[in-house]
Amino acid sequence: MARDYDLKPAPSSEGALDATMTSSVNRRQFLRYGFNTATGVLAASLGVLGFASILLPPGGTNEGELGVKFWAKGREDSAWYGAKHEQLMSKQDFVDEAAKSNTETSGAAGIWNGVPVVVTYVTHSKYANTPVSNGKARFQFTEGVDETGKTIGHFEDLSDADPRLLPSENLVMIFGRCTHLCCIPGWQLVSNSFTDDSWSPGGGDDGGTKLFCICHSSRFDPTVLEMNTNRNRSNGSTFRYAGIRKAGGPAPVGLPIIPVVLNASGGIEGLTDYLDWYTYCD
Ligand code: FES
Repeated sequence: MARDYDLKPAPSSEGALDATMTSSVNRRQFLRYGFNTATGVLAASLGVLGFASILLPPGGTNEGELGVKFWAKGREDSAWYGAKHEQLMSKQDFVDEAAKSNTETSGAAGIWNGVPVVVTYVTHSKYANTPVSNGKARFQFTEGVDETGKTIGHFEDLSDADPRLLPSENLVMIFGRCTHLCCIPGWQLVSNSFTDDSWSPGGGDDGGTKLFCICHSSRFDPTVLEMNTNRNRSNGSTFRYAGIRKAGGPAPVGLPIIPVVLNASGGIEGLTDYLDWYTYCD
């Protein structure tokens, strides 16, 4: 059973994003970044037991680096993927779980290159050519705004340039650190109106299936993809990115996506083309 959580007030600006490091990360730096993120965040919030096994394998095979693993530490008995903790994710895992859902959606926390992620499956292809309707979850592509509310551009401005940003195989993976103070939001880690098995179009706070950050109750809608902007904490440079919409709470903007592909076995792998998008926490 998921735990019940009340909404919590956001703290003051303490710990808000600031600018302190480099603008661009290469593949090698990202591998180190993943390691540091996992040790710093996961060790603190989820426990370190078994941590070594989620790091890249010696020599770093391609599959080992890019494959996404389930992460159910501490929830092995409650999460639907508890028995799959640290196992590689496949699309079929999500399809099977979605078949049990009112909204035909499913999601899970995971680890990709040592960093926390959330993968969500939505039966988009089933409803993509029908009018949007409550309960029939599908992806929507829209304009995004910056933290002042100013419109900055449309998701399709980005996906037209790189179609790999479009959801692949009805799957969306996001970088799992909150844009508020960098906690790790989850897929139905808790039980409340925001995480119900229900869906409404538009990316507002009605309907469920939100990613919920238990630190200060920010909500994110993994079915609404938009253009967002954020800041590289290393050096203060700003960047635009494809993300999922912030539906409510103190987080300033949505969470960046990590494009995914399926390998020959149906396993889910993340692409490393947009590493700068994941630099707003350190
Ligand atoms: S860290 Fe504050 S709402 Fe997520």
